[in-house]
Amino acid sequence: MHQQAAVITGGATRLGRHFAEALADAGFDIALHVNRSRDEAEAVASGIRAKGRVCEIFHCDFLSENLNEELGNLIQAAKQRFPGLNLLLNSASAYEPAPIAKTELAMLETQFRVNVFTPLLLTRHFANVVNEGQVINIIDNKVAYHQYPYAAYLLSKKSLAEMTRMAALEFAPRIRINGLAPGVVLPASQRTSDYVQWRIDGIPLKQQGTPAHLVQALNYLLENPFVAGQILFVDGGESINLEGRHSENYRY
Ligand SMILES: NC(=O)c1ccc[n+]([C@@H]2O[C@H](COP(=O)([O-])OP(=O)(O)OC[C@H]3O[C@@H](n4cnc5c(N)ncnc54)[C@H](OP(=O)(O)O)[C@@H]3O)[C@@H](O)[C@H]2O)c1
Repeated sequence: MHQQAAVITGGATRLGRHFAEALADAGFDIALHVNRSRDEAEAVASGIRAKGRVCEIFHCDFLSENLNEELGNLIQAAKQRFPGLNLLLNSASAYEPAPIAKTELAMLETQFRVNVFTPLLLTRHFANVVNEGQVINIIDNKVAYHQYPYAAYLLSKKSLAEMTRMAALEFAPRIRINGLAPGVVLPASQRTSDYVQWRIDGIPLKQQGTPAHLVQALNYLLENPFVAGQILFVDGGESINLEGRHSENYRY
């Protein structure tokens, strides 16, 4: 039996860092993907090694011209370093705002390359080198909405959610595939406290999520062998708060 190991994309910063550390706590050695945040990746790797796990850093820019080849090389190298590779966690993401009226081709390409093409191609390469395992895709609770000010981002995440269900079917029973859809947890740095409070006001459980809430959900997906093709929303119920119009709230 080989020691189990995980590839995690975008694992050097923010939520990705929390996921990488949680996987190390759960007993995985870590193939930590990084693009620009190399210093942060070194710090995360040191922390994981201090937990007694092996951690190697793998670089890849998901906007590379030779994306498919580079992703294939990444998975091959991770499998060679970690023969017990059995988990792929796709957390890396591009997040650019624009409504459809202002969406350029370049933005669509960036959003779809990082948020859909990369997880899909990594899943394909992963499935080619492992006998069995799991894939977890980090999505976004806003796939429940039509939030057009982030049209390209949101369409890419909706597509990732569909890809998650499709791949879960294609690769079952050998590979178990699920998604995790966070709500308000670590808002982007430009968000003001007023904005965050406004979001919390619209959340039925009236609270902001924490990385620990997501880690708990990640561990649930990892541990429950009867769950496949699901998108687990961890968002305080925000995504079910779609009252719509009906006679009870007709005010005129
Ligand atoms: N934060 C939240 O509250 C929240 C809410 C809903 C959904 N999510 C989802 O949860 C996941 C993690 O969220 P986050 O806020 O921690 O993400 P983030 O800060 O937006 O970015 C995560 C990572 O994506 C990587 N990345 C971006 N462009 C890349 C490229 N061209 N090539 C390779 N890597 C690239 C970055 O790597 P480098 O830094 O190394 O370049 C970064 O570490 C994402 O999928 C996000 O959509 C987060």
